[in-house]
Amino acid sequence: MARGERLICAAGELVEGGSGVRFEIAQGGKSLAAFVVRWRGLPRAYVNECRHQSSELDWMQGDFFDETKLYLICATHGVLYTPDSGICVAGPCRGARLAPLEVVEREGKVFCIEEFEE
Ligand code: FES
Repeated sequence: MARGERLICAAGELVEGGSGVRFEIAQGGKSLAAFVVRWRGLPRAYVNECRHQSSELDWMQGDFFDETKLYLICATHGVLYTPDSGICVAGPCRGARLAPLEVVEREGKVFCIEEFEE
C-alpha cells in the first residue's frame, strides 16, 4: 500500500463553523462519500455516513453544523457529533464515532491522504 495526497479544496473555502466540502475517497477498493469542515482552526474530515442509519449527514449539501455551530448534525434524525472527535453525543447512536479521515492543510490548500495499491 502506498499513501498519497489529493487536493480537496482551497483552505479559504473552509470557514470556521461554515459549510463543509464534500469529496470522495478511495478506501479498501471502494469509493466513499466524505466531507471536511473547519473546527477550531483545523480541517476535520470524516466519511459521510451517519452511525445511526447510514445516511449521509448533510440534507442540504455541505450543511454539516447544527444551528449552534458547536456540533455536526445528521439531518435525517438529528444525531449530534463533536466536530473534533466525531463521537456521537446525542441521539440513538450515542458513543459511536464517525469514521475519521486524515487531511492536511498546507500552502493554502487542503489535501486528503489516500492509500492505494501500487
Ligand atoms: S441516520 Fe443520521 S440521525 Fe438517523
